[in-house]
Amino acid sequence: MAARQSAMAAALLSFAIAPFPGHALQTYSSSSASDPDIRAAAVEAALTDEERHRLLTGYVPFAFPGMPPVEPVVNPSSGRVRGVPRLGIPDLVESDASLGVTNPMGVRPGDTATALPSGLALAASFNPQLAEETGKLVAAEARSRGFNVLLAGGANLTRDWFGGRNFEYLGEDPLLAGVMAGASIKGVQSKGVVSTLKHFSLNAQETLRDTANARIEDAAHRESDLLAFQIAIERGRPGSIMCGYNLVNGAYACENDHLLNKVLKQDWGYKGWVMSDWGAVHSAQALVKGLDQQSGSQLDKQVWFDAPLKAEIVAGRIPKSRLSDAVRRVLRSVFAVGADKLQPQPVTDPALHSALARRAAAEGMVLLKNNGILPLANDARSILVVGGFANVGVMSGWGSSQVTPKGGYGAVVPLGGRSGFSELSRQNIHPSAPLAALKAAFPKAAVSFESGYFPEAAAAYAAKADLVIVIATQWQGESIDASGLNLPNGQNVLIEAVAAANPNTVVVLETGNPVTMPWLNNVSAVLQAWYPGSEGGPAIADVLTGKVNPAGRLPMTFPASVDQAPRSVPPGQGDPVGTRIDIDYVEGANVGYRWYAARGTKPLFAFGHGLSYTSFEQQGLAMSRRGRRIEASLAVANTGSRSGAEVSQLYLVEAAGRPVRKLVGFARTELEPGASQRVKLEIDPRLLANWDGKEWLVAGGTYRFRLGRSAEELLDQEAILKLDAGRIHP
Ligand code: BGC
Repeated sequence: MAARQSAMAAALLSFAIAPFPGHALQTYSSSSASDPDIRAAAVEAALTDEERHRLLTGYVPFAFPGMPPVEPVVNPSSGRVRGVPRLGIPDLVESDASLGVTNPMGVRPGDTATALPSGLALAASFNPQLAEETGKLVAAEARSRGFNVLLAGGANLTRDWFGGRNFEYLGEDPLLAGVMAGASIKGVQSKGVVSTLKHFSLNAQETLRDTANARIEDAAHRESDLLAFQIAIERGRPGSIMCGYNLVNGAYACENDHLLNKVLKQDWGYKGWVMSDWGAVHSAQALVKGLDQQSGSQLDKQVWFDAPLKAEIVAGRIPKSRLSDAVRRVLRSVFAVGADKLQPQPVTDPALHSALARRAAAEGMVLLKNNGILPLANDARSILVVGGFANVGVMSGWGSSQVTPKGGYGAVVPLGGRSGFSELSRQNIHPSAPLAALKAAFPKAAVSFESGYFPEAAAAYAAKADLVIVIATQWQGESIDASGLNLPNGQNVLIEAVAAANPNTVVVLETGNPVTMPWLNNVSAVLQAWYPGSEGGPAIADVLTGKVNPAGRLPMTFPASVDQAPRSVPPGQGDPVGTRIDIDYVEGANVGYRWYAARGTKPLFAFGHGLSYTSFEQQGLAMSRRGRRIEASLAVANTGSRSGAEVSQLYLVEAAGRPVRKLVGFARTELEPGASQRVKLEIDPRLLANWDGKEWLVAGGTYRFRLGRSAEELLDQEAILKLDAGRIHP
């Protein structure tokens, strides 16, 4: 009976909208007994209430400061949900995995993993294929440890230059973030491991993250952060969505009827489950507001989804059917992805993982400036490397995404903070020292190191070197926003002093966010390396020497000053923990480069900017339209003397008479010198439309597109499309 009802429900839902051909939301046919909906309904019907509540209540499976003790488990990680072995439902063994499999607080002594470059680095590659490959890598390492749910897939737009977790995310553009997150989730789940997509939504800053109320118009939200999530869901089909800590328009994100029930489940037809962030639930009523599972429940004031939820159901204040629905959602994702069948399999070739981490780090590096000094000539006799712990390793980002790499950290600087999570914070330096990699790359040169602690000493040695590579760092992390755009710890003074002593100065930035560069005119080159992960040192050497041609593009605008940005300080900075604040996202959907374009301001470096050691020509832009399918095509040619990749970027610059700036398509093309290729970009019609409160509407009129080297540097390649007014779907 239950199975029949579910089959009907599935049939009714099978019209689920396909707003973008090729990227349809999940449609669910119910033709066989292996159908996850049918199985989930049948298994759910066989559960006791005790088991239902168990499946909806996750916990932290290790001792955490300030938390009641827990039974020790084998293989602890960030979260766990007890399964129902009698019905073949495994424990959900959850690991953080945004940038690799984590080992929180070293709960699995000696267990290390591949640390991938930061999310911003991945986004900078503009390469969804790479995101899929790195997703597979993480899932393979997770599977080898028996983890079947990965807390991965951060797709919050990087609205602010200061966001402490921006390094985990995928930049400021909804198309780029959505496509990259979707590809990464697809990679993870192809290995039979469930991935989340997080943190739904507008978890844009860390300051007062538990009490900050993000205020935004619904249409602006749908056209920005929500669109990134929607695209990621359509492409990656994540088994679970993790809601954030913050409030959105007055309601906690994990108890937000509009976001969870209306947008996610009703409008988008999402069939997986919503899990809370750890410590983000405030009542049992969250279940009716759309939350399906309470995670890390000891971190909340109460284990809401156990006794309090039972009491609400018994009292008739929450319908029992909603309990069943939540459980079915968990089960259907587990079955759809195959996580119930997951068998731990060892990683057979760890060297391949290291090689991919190295390639990913290099692909994500962005050459911001080059006066011709790069790639470094191999006849340099003396090279001075300065600062950035380059003798030990590379900077990494702090927080739940922090990976413990092979061999452990190269160095640890305990920093601490004012409360909770930030108290535990530390700067962890990932091993793979740029110094060693540069020594290996220049066997004939004298490569030496100066810590940079005393700028004058560094300058004195710099004056005697053929060239100087300064590595500058900006540490960022969960619960910690940046409070200024300057490099911290006097590093600007250091770079000024070194550059004054030796004009052949190259700066490598290992930062979690944009920084200003008051010394920009005085240095010869700047390479943005982000947090490059456990193969970061060799990857930096690969790009500096030209072994890899840089092709990364900024996924985030670098402001020239804080006054240019929508917010010049983190709202609530300095207020005590627990202070309730409102953040008005006045820029609405004009996030990042769109804000700069709308105001006509020139940032330090624009979204999409990035230089190369070779040169490219892009020509012959044409648009075509067949039914709802809109496609752009262009020819890309490598006109230089080195092989490399070009990132084609297509911007909408005028929509029905209105000036706009929106990335509507991108493609990364690898080309040998002299080679050319025709590139096709399919345009998601939602990027040409606006949300009118109920649906996506395209205004009738002329739509003008330009190719760009960045959001600011538009090329003379233009195409025009005339569109009639209309709705996009269903
Ligand atoms: C973070 C999540 C993470 C969870 C479990 C929270 O503090 O916000 O991203 O998945 O902890 O570690």
